[in-house]
Amino acid sequence: MQTQPLITLKNVTKEYRGLAGTVVALKGISLDVQQGEFLVITGKSGAGKTTLVNVLAGLDRTTDGEIWVDGAPVHRFGPEKAAQWRGRTVGVVFQTFELLPTLSLVQNVMLPMDFAHRYTRRQRRERAMQLLEQVEIAAHARKPPTAISGGQQQRVAIARALANDPPILIADEPTGSLDSATTATVLDVFSALAAAGKTVILVTHDKDVAARGSRVITLADGEIITNHDS
Ligand SMILES: Nc1ncnc2c1ncn2[C@@H]1O[C@H](COP(=O)(O)OP(=O)(O)OP(=O)(O)O)[C@@H](O)[C@H]1O
Ligand SMILES: [Mg+2]
Repeated sequence: MQTQPLITLKNVTKEYRGLAGTVVALKGISLDVQQGEFLVITGKSGAGKTTLVNVLAGLDRTTDGEIWVDGAPVHRFGPEKAAQWRGRTVGVVFQTFELLPTLSLVQNVMLPMDFAHRYTRRQRRERAMQLLEQVEIAAHARKPPTAISGGQQQRVAIARALANDPPILIADEPTGSLDSATTATVLDVFSALAAAGKTVILVTHDKDVAARGSRVITLADGEIITNHDS
C-alpha cells in the first residue's frame, strides 16, 4: 500500500531570465517522493539537477507549478518563510563541505541549532557530539576542519545538516570532490540515514554513486527522462 508522499512536485518549471535571454532550466517536473526513500537525481551537466534540488529546498523560487512538502506549499513561500521552513525541514550538504574554518568541528555542527532555537544551549553541544559520533568523527570534535581529511569533512557537513533533525536531507554532488574509497564511507552514511527513516535526495553524475540509491531519476534538458527503482 502506497502512503501519502512526503514530497510532491506538480508541473514545476523554472526559468532564469538574464541579459542573454531566458533559460528554461526545468520544463514541467512532476514527481512524488516517499518518506525514507534514497532518491538519486542524475543527468548530464546543465540538465537541471542543481536547479531542481534548489527549488525543492526552498533555496530558489519556482517560475510555475507546485511543491508540497508534508502539506506545506513551498512554492508559495517568500525568501524569509522559506529560510525558516528549511531550517526545520531540510538539511543541505554541498560538494565543497562549506565548514567554517575558524570554528571547531563540534561548533560547526552546533551552529544551525543556535539559529533554530529547537534545543537548549546544553542540549546543543550534547546533540552535536552525538551527531559526530553517528558519522564516526567524535574523536576529532575539537579540531578545526583543516585538520581532517575531505571525507571526514563531508561527514561533519552531514552531521551539521542533521543538526535540527530535519526529515529531509538534500546533497548536491556531495562526493564530487572525494576519492572512491572516501566516497564509499560517505555513501554508507546516507544509506544508513535513509534506512533510519530520513528522506535522502542526492545529486550525482557518477553511475556508481547513483547505484546506491533506492530510486534513480535522470534529467535531460529540464525534463525527467527515466524514473525507476534500482
Ligand atoms: N543562476 C542562473 N542564471 C541563469 N542560468 C542558470 C542559472 N543557474 C543555472 N542556469 C542554467 O540552467 C540550466 C540548468 O543548470 P543546473 O545548474 O541546474 O544544471 P546541473 O544539472 O546542476 O549541471 P552540473 O552537473 O554542471 O552541476 C543550465 O542551462 C544552466 O546554464
Ligand atoms: Mg549542478
